[in-house]
Amino acid sequence: MSVRSKWRAAGDAIDPLLVPRRRLYTGAMMPGIGLGTFGSDHVSHQAVADAVKDAAAVGYRHFDCASVYGNEAFVGRAFRELMESGLNREQFWVTSKVWNDMHGEGDVIASCEKSLADLQLKYLDMYLVHWPFPNHHPPGCDVSSRSGAAQPYIHENYMRTWREMERLADRGLARHIGTSNMTIPKLRLLLRDARIKPAINEMEMHPHFQQTEFFHFLLDHEIQPVAFSPIGSPGRPERDRTPEDTTPTEDPVIVAIARKHGVHPAEICIKWAVQRGQTPIPFSVKRMNYLGNLRAAVSDPLTDEEMNEIGRIDRNCRLIKGQVFLWRENQPWEDLWDVNGEITPR
Ligand SMILES: NC(=O)c1ccc[n+]([C@@H]2O[C@H](COP(=O)([O-])OP(=O)(O)OC[C@H]3O[C@@H](n4cnc5c(N)ncnc54)[C@H](OP(=O)(O)O)[C@@H]3O)[C@@H](O)[C@H]2O)c1
Repeated sequence: MSVRSKWRAAGDAIDPLLVPRRRLYTGAMMPGIGLGTFGSDHVSHQAVADAVKDAAAVGYRHFDCASVYGNEAFVGRAFRELMESGLNREQFWVTSKVWNDMHGEGDVIASCEKSLADLQLKYLDMYLVHWPFPNHHPPGCDVSSRSGAAQPYIHENYMRTWREMERLADRGLARHIGTSNMTIPKLRLLLRDARIKPAINEMEMHPHFQQTEFFHFLLDHEIQPVAFSPIGSPGRPERDRTPEDTTPTEDPVIVAIARKHGVHPAEICIKWAVQRGQTPIPFSVKRMNYLGNLRAAVSDPLTDEEMNEIGRIDRNCRLIKGQVFLWRENQPWEDLWDVNGEITPR
């Protein structure tokens, strides 16, 4: 029996060929929904790895990883087992990210090589700069925690990191490179100076945080928008919660549409994302939920009226504010996001 013939999809799997794909400016096709792998400090690394393995069996072909999630070695064992059971490397898409403490020359490539070793892969499909700041903090720290060495965005420094990203792409360690948690003014500078332009930008996007201007900016520049926290991150760590936060899955419009379709409101968030044209990467370790999210991407589309209704419930409510990456005491978190259309100075 050939190795390939050992691969068995689950009986209720979604055919990966039915899942929408996004064309990157390079011509490569990226599966239009992925599985997130950040356990939000409370889901065990093994539980995430088990979900990755089973998600592949139900039809997922895109996995969003990062060194800072602390679980790449576990996820890597799941990838190895998948490949040993006959899934070809070319059949699935893996993203990873360089963490904020590895932006320096020499560090970016070393970090990518470490992720490759942990994930037991020869190449990544996508490698991202996780945040545009070199600011970091101890895992699980309080939101008021600030690193003494924290800095604002300094474009020359970001470009030094980006040159390393370009080098690792040249070496074939990653087939594409991209950005995450950027803003329009920061991306304008990167687009001006990059030799290899980012293929995606990963950013928070859900019905209560639609980022319409940024979304269109990305499409206009042939950069694919990838949506993290597409359900509104109900399991996010305590440090990422404030009293002003809203919950898209409790929005009456989402709840009413979910009732009509007979699905959980989370699945309406996923349908909206896929139909709008972004690539959601929902996290779940529950089979019913990750299978439901994948099914949402291929079944029973929302009507134009439902899409328009959801378009009208944007609350501009950013949930992942990034306070720990601020560089001054008593600084508003909005400074990280260039809300006035200019990069926030020191
Ligand atoms: N680039 C970045 O800076 C960045 C930042 C944040 C996140 N991310 C990536 O994006 C991924 C997803 O973001 P996220 O985890 O913050 O938020 P999310 O995907 O919006 O929400 C995940 C939560 O929703 C629940 N859920 C998922 N599907 C469901 C369903 N069908 N019905 C009911 N509940 C459901 C999950 O619980 P159960 O497990 O109980 O189903 C989990 O608690 C992360 O895992 C990570 O890979 C990237």
